[in-house]
Amino acid sequence: MTDYPPIGEQLDDLEAAREEGRRKMEWAAQHMPICTRLREEYEEEQPLEGQRIGMAMHVEAKTAILVETLAEAGAEVAVTGCNPLSTHDDVSAALDSHDSITSYAKRGVDDEEYYQAIEAVISHEPTVTVDDGMDMIAAIHEDHPELIEGILGGCEETTTGVHRLRAMDADGALEYPVFAVNDTPMKRLFDNVHGTGESSLASIAMTTNLSWAGKNVVVAGYGYCGKGVAKKAAGQNANVIVTEVEPRRALEAHMEGYDVLPMAEAAEVGDVFLTTTGNRDVIVEEHFPEMKDGVLLANAGHFDIEIDLEALDDLATERYEARDGVEAYVMDDGRRLNVVAEGRLVNLAAPVALGHPVEVMDQSFGVQAACVRELVESKAYGPGVHDVPDELDKEIAEIKLEADGVSIDSLTDTQTEYMGSWEHGT
Ligand code: NAI
Repeated sequence: MTDYPPIGEQLDDLEAAREEGRRKMEWAAQHMPICTRLREEYEEEQPLEGQRIGMAMHVEAKTAILVETLAEAGAEVAVTGCNPLSTHDDVSAALDSHDSITSYAKRGVDDEEYYQAIEAVISHEPTVTVDDGMDMIAAIHEDHPELIEGILGGCEETTTGVHRLRAMDADGALEYPVFAVNDTPMKRLFDNVHGTGESSLASIAMTTNLSWAGKNVVVAGYGYCGKGVAKKAAGQNANVIVTEVEPRRALEAHMEGYDVLPMAEAAEVGDVFLTTTGNRDVIVEEHFPEMKDGVLLANAGHFDIEIDLEALDDLATERYEARDGVEAYVMDDGRRLNVVAEGRLVNLAAPVALGHPVEVMDQSFGVQAACVRELVESKAYGPGVHDVPDELDKEIAEIKLEADGVSIDSLTDTQTEYMGSWEHGT
């Protein structure tokens, strides 16, 4: 064990924090039928008995339901944050009070503490890892390779983490199996699209108290997240402008009726800029002088590298906190460029941010819980990135449809045979 203390040893009014955290979790659980169903099954069957699970996730109420589900399935769980600003300390405290859970997650940590907390989780010697962004898998491979032999596998939640893992796999450097949870239909088509769309716009609106109607909203990247953001912004009467580097994605945006421009041109007309690329240096030095007074700059991609804040800081003659969660950078001609949530993923890091809607995370975390069980029970996966078995993803969809009272048709035997045949032509 390292010296880094769990949250339970860091907060002053621990009891009040636990109570509030528990209240948030109960609200989330009320709207998470998939995790509730899996939890009931897992409590009875104890599929994770004897396992130690190390997690680096956004520690807020919905994640807490996943953490508890895994603990109630028989595992010892150690958890920390995957972003210095996304933890809800009260939820972290509530988790830490569970007998089988240790939570090191704390909001507002600096880089050193962030990595100390990851080390603290790793010191529990996990047999399964669950990451959002791959920081823990990286730390295990770089600094604790001796633990790899005892690790059955991992699960990765987000696009950036899966990109990093695939790059690691291609280099032959990934030494245990990891499920690309992000890439399942039940995650990506809902969490990335609807979750990021709704929660990013809601966080920006609540942080700034400004309207979307009539604004030029520049969405950088028209991937799953960008599509969601663009659609929801258009739905609130904004004019959406998309920037892209991939021709087919740009064409899709164009055919949806959005303006598509290079960032150099979008910079001149945008009122709000929201990056969703998972790439770095998307809004940089050359763009800031073109921007209008009062623009908002925000990021919904995983890391805070999409907007070059160092360059913006160099250009600024003055900086001040314009509102809670908004830093104004004043240019030498008096224009104010407003950065929301320090350029960190805005739907989780803004002071009022709540992350994705509960229902959406129920799906993502349902897939996570099922994947952890699959890793433990099958033990059949070799080192590398693995797609989540389609049947498992479908099962999660079936639970959700049943919970929402939605029925669908099933294929007849004749239809099944037809769909699997090649003999029937014109
Ligand atoms: P994606 O790969 O589907 O989309 C990214 C898009 O950005 C691609 O179309 C790519 O061509 C484009 N792009 C790359 N570089 C660009 C540049 N310089 N300028 C303009 N466009 C560029 O990825 P997805 O699933 O949309 O995820 C994007 C990011 O959001 C990732 O970092 C992911 O981890 C993160 N994410 C954040 C969530 C949140 O809660 N805020 C939820 C889910 C994902």
